[in-house]
Amino acid sequence: MSNILVIGASGQIGKQATEKLLDAGHTVTAMVRNKDKISDVSGDNLSIYEGDLEKDFSTAFDGCDTVVFCAGSGAGTGPDKTLLIDLWAARNAVEFAKKASVKQFIMVSSVGSDDPDAVDSPIKPYLVAKHMADKHLQNSGVAYTILRPGSLTDEAGTEYVQEVLPGDEDKREIPREDVATAIVYSVDNEKALNRIYGLFKGDQPLKSVIQ
Ligand SMILES: NC(=O)c1ccc[n+]([C@@H]2O[C@H](COP(=O)([O-])OP(=O)(O)OC[C@H]3O[C@@H](n4cnc5c(N)ncnc54)[C@H](OP(=O)(O)O)[C@@H]3O)[C@@H](O)[C@H]2O)c1
Repeated sequence: MSNILVIGASGQIGKQATEKLLDAGHTVTAMVRNKDKISDVSGDNLSIYEGDLEKDFSTAFDGCDTVVFCAGSGAGTGPDKTLLIDLWAARNAVEFAKKASVKQFIMVSSVGSDDPDAVDSPIKPYLVAKHMADKHLQNSGVAYTILRPGSLTDEAGTEYVQEVLPGDEDKREIPREDVATAIVYSVDNEKALNRIYGLFKGDQPLKSVIQ
């Protein structure tokens, strides 16, 4: 079992991942800006770290051996937060993880972050931020698992996915719950180390894709 720091634990993926990781028997430190936002999650193996990703959050990593980064600036904020959260906070998290000698860093990235130039869309700055954060992690020497989901939905997870980008743009989506489950399957999993997974709705069992 691992001691896992979940960054962005009050978020939609983050909260589901926290619950599923606790259910799987792991110990979780949930990093949140406001602990009230995670008051509906409980467990003997849960501790809360209140912190802001725009400030020093290095002490969140004390005692953790695995990091999950599922924070994000969100669609409602401007380019300043894209830079400060999706890129710089992710970069800082990788640096803190390296100093803490964590054994695995799981990054929730995004479809399109492999090649932002291929995307002609207003979200290109966000994809550039995600791309640079992913590259920083890949070059850090920390063992990584990068998840690149398609558009996130609030449907119940099915645990059936495909890794390859669907040709049909309407099919480039995935329930947040399946991303949370993919995080759980990635933890402590040799096969998932230094791997990048696309995650889209599909017909392959999620567990067999990741494990
Ligand atoms: N939306 C999509 O279709 C899509 C597609 C692919 C990938 N993604 C990526 O998926 C990830 C998670 O998505 P989601 O829907 O779960 O996001 P979400 O619900 O918006 O959660 C974002 C989390 O980041 C936290 N956060 C933001 N700024 C922070 C700060 N300064 N300090 C501490 N925490 C901060 C939020 O905290 P608060 O609760 O305090 O706000 C929240 O916990 C993100 O990395 C996103 O980029 C999204």
